Amino acid sequence: MRVTRLDVQDIRSIREARLIPGPGLNLLLGENGAGKTSVLEALHLLGYGRSFRGRVRDGLIRTEAEAAQVYAEWEDGTGKAHRVGLRHAGNDWMGRLDGEDVAQLGDLCAAVAVTTFEPASHALVSGGGEPRRRYLDWGLFHVEHGYLAQWRRYVRALKQRNALLKARNAGAQLDAWDHEFAEAGEPLQRHRESYMAALLPHLQAVTEQLLPAFGIAALELQAGWKHSQMSLADALLLGRERDLALGHTGVGPHRADWRVDFVARPEREPYSRGQAKLVALACLLAQARHLREARGEWPVILLDDFASELDSRHRGRVLEQLAAAGAQVFLTGVEAPPEVAGKTVAMFHVEHGQISPAS
Ligand SMILES: Nc1ncnc2c1ncn2[C@@H]1O[C@H](COP(=O)(O)OP(=O)(O)O)[C@@H](O)[C@H]1O
Ligand SMILES: [Mg+2]
Repeated sequence: MRVTRLDVQDIRSIREARLIPGPGLNLLLGENGAGKTSVLEALHLLGYGRSFRGRVRDGLIRTEAEAAQVYAEWEDGTGKAHRVGLRHAGNDWMGRLDGEDVAQLGDLCAAVAVTTFEPASHALVSGGGEPRRRYLDWGLFHVEHGYLAQWRRYVRALKQRNALLKARNAGAQLDAWDHEFAEAGEPLQRHRESYMAALLPHLQAVTEQLLPAFGIAALELQAGWKHSQMSLADALLLGRERDLALGHTGVGPHRADWRVDFVARPEREPYSRGQAKLVALACLLAQARHLREARGEWPVILLDDFASELDSRHRGRVLEQLAAAGAQVFLTGVEAPPEVAGKTVAMFHVEHGQISPAS
C-alpha cells in the first residue's frame, strides 16, 4: 500500500498536521521533541489500534484534547484508492473505512498494513513472548483470510474458560468450553506452522543481505502445549487440576512462542542489544516481504529514529533493499542519514508539531 495523504489531529503535541508523502522513501527531520515519532504513531495507530509506545489512553491523545484523530488515503497494490478515518478517545473509538462505519477496530486495522521498527523493537527477539505472538498474529491477519475470525473465537473461548477456572467451576460447562477451546485453538497452531514455513525463505533472503556473518537462519515455533505429543484437548485435560488451582489456562496457542536461530551461532548465546535490533529488523522486513508475495503489495514501513538505531553499514543495506523493492518507507531522524544520498527521497521538516515539505 502507498499512503497518499495523512491527516493527524491531537496526537501528543500535534494539534493538526497534514503530510502528503512521496511513493518511496520519506524522511521526517526535526529536533528532539518536534513531533516526528508522533507522526509515525498516527500511521501505526491505524494499523494496530494502538501506538508502539503504549495504549491510546496512556498519553497518545494530546493533553487538553478529547480524542486523537487520524485520516489517511492510500492506494492498494492494484492502484485502487481507499480512505480510512479513526477517532480514538482511549476507551471508545469510531472508525470509517471507504465510507462505511467499522464495527470492530480489528477490521479497520486489517485493511491497513504497517510494519514498524522503532527503538524498542529489539524486544521482538530479546523480550517476553507477547510481542512475538503479536508478530505471528499480525502476519496471519494480513495474509490468511479467516484467521481473524478464528482468533476471535479462540480468545472468546479462552476468556470463558478462565472465568470458569477463577470461579472454581469444574462442571459440565468447563467440559463444553474445553471442547470449544480445543476446536478453536488447533487451527490457530496449524495456520502458524504454515505461516512460519512460508516466512522462512524470506527471513533467509533478508538475513543473507543484512547479516551475512550470522549464516543461515532457522525458525522454531513452540505451539504453547506439547504439540508433538498430544492434542490440545488432551493437554487441557492433563492440565485441568493445575489450571483450576491457578485460575487460568496454562496451555494453548496464547502461550505460543518462536525463536530465530542461525547456523553460525549454534551456541545460542544471547544477542547483544545491537544484534537483537538487527535480528528484529530482519524479522520485520521478512514479514513485509512475505506480505508482498502473498498480497502483491508492501506494507507501509516505519523506521523511527533510524540513524540512531543502526550503524551506517546496516542502514545502507536496509535502505538499498527497501528502495530497490519500491516499498513506501517513513524514516525519522534529527538529520538526513548519509546513506540516502543518491536515492529519491521526499523530505519533510517537523517543527512544533507542524509538517512542511523541505526541498
Ligand atoms: N499527550 C501529549 N500531549 C501533548 N504533548 C505531548 C503529549 N505526549 C507527548 N507530548 C510532547 O510531544 C512531543 C513528542 O514528540 P515526539 O513525537 O516524541 O518527537 P520527536 O520524535 O520529534 O522527538 C514531546 O515534546 C512531548 O513532550
Ligand atoms: Mg522520536
